[in-house]
Amino acid sequence: MKNFTLHIPTRLIFGRGAIASIGTEIARDGHKFVLMIAGGGSIKRTGVYEQVVESLRNNDRRWEECWGVQPNPTLSKVREMIAQARRLGVDAVLAVGGGSVIDSAKAVAAGYYVDDVWELFEKDEPVNRALPVYTVLTLSAAGSEMNPYAVITNEAEKKKWAIGGPALYPKASVVDPSVQVHLPWKQTVNGAVDSLSHIMEHYFLGGGETTLAYDESLMRTIVQVTDRLQQAPTDYDARASLAWASTLALNGISGAGLGDGDWTTHALEHGLSGAHPEIAHGEGLAVLFPAWILYCQDANPALFARWAKAVWGAASVQDGVSAYRAKLRSWGAPITLKELGIKREELKELAELAWGVGNHGVVKPLEPEDFLRILELAFE
Ligand code: NZQ
Ligand code: ZN
Repeated sequence: MKNFTLHIPTRLIFGRGAIASIGTEIARDGHKFVLMIAGGGSIKRTGVYEQVVESLRNNDRRWEECWGVQPNPTLSKVREMIAQARRLGVDAVLAVGGGSVIDSAKAVAAGYYVDDVWELFEKDEPVNRALPVYTVLTLSAAGSEMNPYAVITNEAEKKKWAIGGPALYPKASVVDPSVQVHLPWKQTVNGAVDSLSHIMEHYFLGGGETTLAYDESLMRTIVQVTDRLQQAPTDYDARASLAWASTLALNGISGAGLGDGDWTTHALEHGLSGAHPEIAHGEGLAVLFPAWILYCQDANPALFARWAKAVWGAASVQDGVSAYRAKLRSWGAPITLKELGIKREELKELAELAWGVGNHGVVKPLEPEDFLRILELAFE
């Protein structure tokens, strides 16, 4: 087991009715004027918006709104919102939405203090200064509500890259699973697949029995509660269990003692959805993770076999991967790049874009041509 430091400074307020506390959380820290950042309008349909503004009003907080963050959020939108934040002189940022909205808010918070926010992505250094970030999560998937990362696409250069650092932990995040009961099924699946993938990016490093056993339990739970939600999408307990598992999958605990993660599959996926913003992060991961497992299993055959048995009750890695793909199919997720509309001729460029993302090849050292091989394995 490796040494680790665990410090998660985010206050997490979880449960039915929790959105009413967002104004109190902001007031508690003394912030008076926030930029509320949102996506395409789902928060108006789900009643989340009304709950947020009521809470801000009840706590005498001023706010301005910025709408229109898209899934696979873009650098141009982030730049536009930074300009707005500066013009208004806000003292905090409030994200109301899924991972794309939260990541955009974090990028705005960090970009507020530098000439051009993309410099932070190019530099790849920890972000130590940012406006305070608050979040109201409406889709459990990315884990951004309780972690220090943000992923943004520079659409002109097809670069979907990340920043991270202590200043990017939200000060407080509110998760009310009941606002997710009407999520389109596809989004629920994308969230489950992303959460499973965050655990697996750490799990296959191996090393600490406590964390490995914890991760196995978390993975089994995600599969079980997603099955339950397929039968009964309004099952609050299943929804809440998936939401909490999703936060736990990427808030530092699932990798404690194992290391900082492998992240090859995420690099491959960010290459993919950076070039094809119409592809959701969870869809890309559904296609790519099984291929990565097949390609890298020889790095630690015993651990990959343990995963197959513990999560899927399978006798071999191949059977475990088949069981995972069958489960993805039963959930309606894609399992090949071809289904996602990718052409074979594109694979080389996608491998190069993914290689540029950085952070990869820890479980098994990989060269650029290995990236191409993994994409080929995922193709059809
Ligand atoms: O834009 P709106 O109208 O809000 O609609 C969204 C969006 O269309 C909709 N939605 C959200 N909550 C809803 C809802 N629809 C109905 N009811 C609700 N309660 O869902 C759609 C997808 O939202 P998005 O935020 O894009 O999804 P997700 O949360 O999966 O975030 C994906 C982004 O997070 C990044 C991904 O790469 C991707 O860009 N990631 C961020 C990470 C991080 N910060 O740590 C790590 C992850 O590995 C990931 O890379
Ligand atoms: Zn992810």
